[in-house]
Amino acid sequence: MVRKIIKYGDPLLEQKAEPVTEFNTPELRETLTDMFETMYAAKGVGLAAPQIGLSQQISVIDVSVGENEADKLVIINPEITCREGKQVGEEGCLSIPGFREPVSRANRVTVRAQNEKGEPIELSGEELLARAFQHEIDHLNGILFINHLSGLKRDIIRRKIKKLQKAGEWD
Ligand code: NI
Repeated sequence: MVRKIIKYGDPLLEQKAEPVTEFNTPELRETLTDMFETMYAAKGVGLAAPQIGLSQQISVIDVSVGENEADKLVIINPEITCREGKQVGEEGCLSIPGFREPVSRANRVTVRAQNEKGEPIELSGEELLARAFQHEIDHLNGILFINHLSGLKRDIIRRKIKKLQKAGEWD
């Protein structure tokens, strides 16, 4: 089921999500199915559970946007264990639609996480995948891409969003 993606302004997006402790449950399977459906419906490359209103440390990523089954990744309770190099590229977020800004990120990261069965996994990625890992793991820590911008740029975006909220064009 495609879920509603909550937008910037909802406090859940700026809170650390709770760790997942139960695996192999119908609830977890349904959450993951819904997260992929919601991400594909929005044409995103990643989605974190807080974006659909769930305070759980779960992210899904697919840099092929549904083109390649092998690119479908699930990371639960993830942690970045290694960061190398630097890349600067345009970044956006499904919870902050309409805004894109260059964000500096590590070019290559290694992630330790659990899969949907609770088994430990280690994944590495570079360029777009590394960016997706960092963006989605940030979400689980209550951090949004605009937190990586200069205070000035962030304030401009916040002001524009406030106007949209007042106009009823942001919910
Ligand atoms: Ni995002």
